[in-house]
Amino acid sequence: MRHPKEIVLKDGTEVLIRPLASADELPLRRFYSGIAEEDRWYMRFDVMDPTVIHGWVEDQKEVFSMLALCAGEIVAHARLHTHHYGCYHHQGRLRIIVDPRYRQKRLGSWMLLDLIHLAMEKGLREVRADFVVGVEQAAIESAYKLDFFKKALLEDFVIDPQGQLHDLLIMTKRLHKDWGDF
Ligand SMILES: CC(C)(COP(=O)(O)OP(=O)(O)OC[C@H]1O[C@@H](n2cnc3c(N)ncnc32)[C@H](O)[C@@H]1OP(=O)(O)O)[C@@H](O)C(=O)NCCC(=O)NCCS
Repeated sequence: MRHPKEIVLKDGTEVLIRPLASADELPLRRFYSGIAEEDRWYMRFDVMDPTVIHGWVEDQKEVFSMLALCAGEIVAHARLHTHHYGCYHHQGRLRIIVDPRYRQKRLGSWMLLDLIHLAMEKGLREVRADFVVGVEQAAIESAYKLDFFKKALLEDFVIDPQGQLHDLLIMTKRLHKDWGDF
């Protein structure tokens, strides 16, 4: 996969996609400080904690990050979480977050495709993404469009900031050795 990659969004905005580099630590912290609590809550990591961002920047052995930048500013962050050992080592887990100003312009889909490509290059057999039903509906729609399938639905499994329980949808996509299925 060649990076940096230039893409043009639905509205003509030009965006650059490239892997995270060590100089991105502060800009990535700035990016997350602009993301609303209601989006951050479901991310499983406290991205307002500088040690979390530091960990992702410093050590990319298990967590690989891609950034999208517009005029030098980070506008999306996508992660592929992997395991070197054990029963999950064939599988990667995906997570994407797009700056609200850049949503619904296909940036999330571009990032998702990039992570799938990265997972294929790493020889993974499957990618997985977990979504909170009714909250992460946009992400569920874009996953269906890229041939992710429902693996399981865990009822009343995650909790929102108000204490309300929601279902968790686990979706997976099988990977093949070439790009034939795209
Ligand atoms: C989910 C998210 C990454 C999608 O990014 P995006 O750049 O807006 O997505 P895209 O523009 O590529 O949309 C792809 C498809 O998803 C669906 N979609 C996107 N936003 C939607 C919305 N608000 N409502 C319903 N469907 C939506 C559409 O089907 C769209 O396809 P289309 O362009 O052909 O209509 C973004 O909304 C986000 O960062 N949300 C908060 C964090 C999150 O939920 N992350 C997902 C965990 S992996």
